[in-house]
Amino acid sequence: MAESAELRVGDQTVELPVVEGSEGERAIDISELRAQTGCITLDPGFANTGSCQSGITFIDGERGVLQYRGIPIEELAEKATFLEVAYLLVYGKLPDKEQLEYYRESIRYHTMIHEDFRSFFGALPKDAHPMAACSCAVGALATFYPDSLDPRDPRQVEVSIHRLIAKLPTLVAYAYKHSIGQPAMYPRNSLRYVANLLYMMFGNPCEEYDVDPVVAKALDLQFILHADHEQNCSTSSVRLVGSSMVNLFAAISAGINALWGPLHGGANAEVIDMLAAIRDEGMSGRQFVERAKSRNDTSRLMGFGHRVYKNFDPRAKILKKACFDVLDKLGVHSKLLEIAVELEEIALKDDYFVERRLYPNVDFYSGVIYNAIGTPSNMFTAMFAIGRLPGWIAHWAEMHADPQFRIGRPRQIYTGRTKTAFTPIDQR
Ligand code: SDX
Repeated sequence: MAESAELRVGDQTVELPVVEGSEGERAIDISELRAQTGCITLDPGFANTGSCQSGITFIDGERGVLQYRGIPIEELAEKATFLEVAYLLVYGKLPDKEQLEYYRESIRYHTMIHEDFRSFFGALPKDAHPMAACSCAVGALATFYPDSLDPRDPRQVEVSIHRLIAKLPTLVAYAYKHSIGQPAMYPRNSLRYVANLLYMMFGNPCEEYDVDPVVAKALDLQFILHADHEQNCSTSSVRLVGSSMVNLFAAISAGINALWGPLHGGANAEVIDMLAAIRDEGMSGRQFVERAKSRNDTSRLMGFGHRVYKNFDPRAKILKKACFDVLDKLGVHSKLLEIAVELEEIALKDDYFVERRLYPNVDFYSGVIYNAIGTPSNMFTAMFAIGRLPGWIAHWAEMHADPQFRIGRPRQIYTGRTKTAFTPIDQR
């Protein structure tokens, strides 16, 4: 007997079906609520609202669990490469050797972007934020590839997916080179995915650039950990924009813009700026934590807190360990890492954070690694976007394949003025 929920509204009682997921999560299906009761639900920030049923990523915020297609993030971080994870998320299973080789070849084949992108980036101010540059560049891909915009044509969708995964690193590197006045580097297809990105970002036409395998591995790990996170702000944006049947490039451009926000993907850069400010102002960790707690201070402990995780973000645990490994291998001492560890130790014992169940999230340590490998902080969120791209694509594709697909259109409760006559201008 399927479970149901009873809801009493006034003198009316309705029965609503309860949906149970494969990991035991339950939801009250309110699809018929308004038809039966005339009421809608209200849930600012959607903290209690499920937008869809999805088989891509599972998060248990209470237990600090994260799984991509059922595989624990800890195993993927240790045993997979980012391209394997991208394949897993988009196609639903890990590729065998032949599939992975074909996938790698296809991505390598699509890394170059149209030559007109040089003038495209050249038209932007030098201090253009890389996320602004990348969101418009990705949107502009729709103008260069009018032949692959139909979201329901399987061949066009496949080509667009490969083009996006292949070209986003090139676009990110172009945005970076433009911002430092250096020539954009053509991708070198003899290099692996992450090594190619490092080459395009830190190489130059005047000398050879050898990719440090330690740095490439650290970046590959970062991308794996950022690859998907169920219905976060940017993924929900990709789904909502994509639900209008617009092309994939436009939907991903919307995701990039949503990720840019400091409360979401922009937090990794905010963390580094916060750690650097503490260092440069000679503040103690305790002094800053007190500021982050104060209602009279707008400071927040950036990289702490999460809408879903009310325990450790498993990605933060992996990244904290990776910070020490990478810095040790690079022979780099990071004062910023020292400050981050001190802040974490203080906050985890402080009632304010304990009561609110605020723990380090993925952004708390990721910036320390980006910083250690020479990435400027304004590029951190663009790196996050490269990692998150397969997740966005996977959710967009899952949405289009959903038999219950329909355009997303939330309702509201109106609280404005009731019906009012127009006042002519000479009477206002
Ligand atoms: C990401 O959704 C995802 O999955 C996102 C992400 C992904 O992979 O896609 O995991 C990536 O975006 C991680 C989050 C990065 N953002 C930050 O690190 C910014 C700092 N964190 C916060 O702004 C906040 O914790 C959020 C935005 C992450 C979550 O916001 P919520 O769930 O709306 O929680 P809230 O703002 O209502 O906070 C609850 C309480 C408040 O205090 P009270 O009003 O109860 O007194 O906790 C306080 C907040 O003031 N609080 C913090 C805090 N985070 C929350 N106080 C100090 N420092 C913080 N970081």
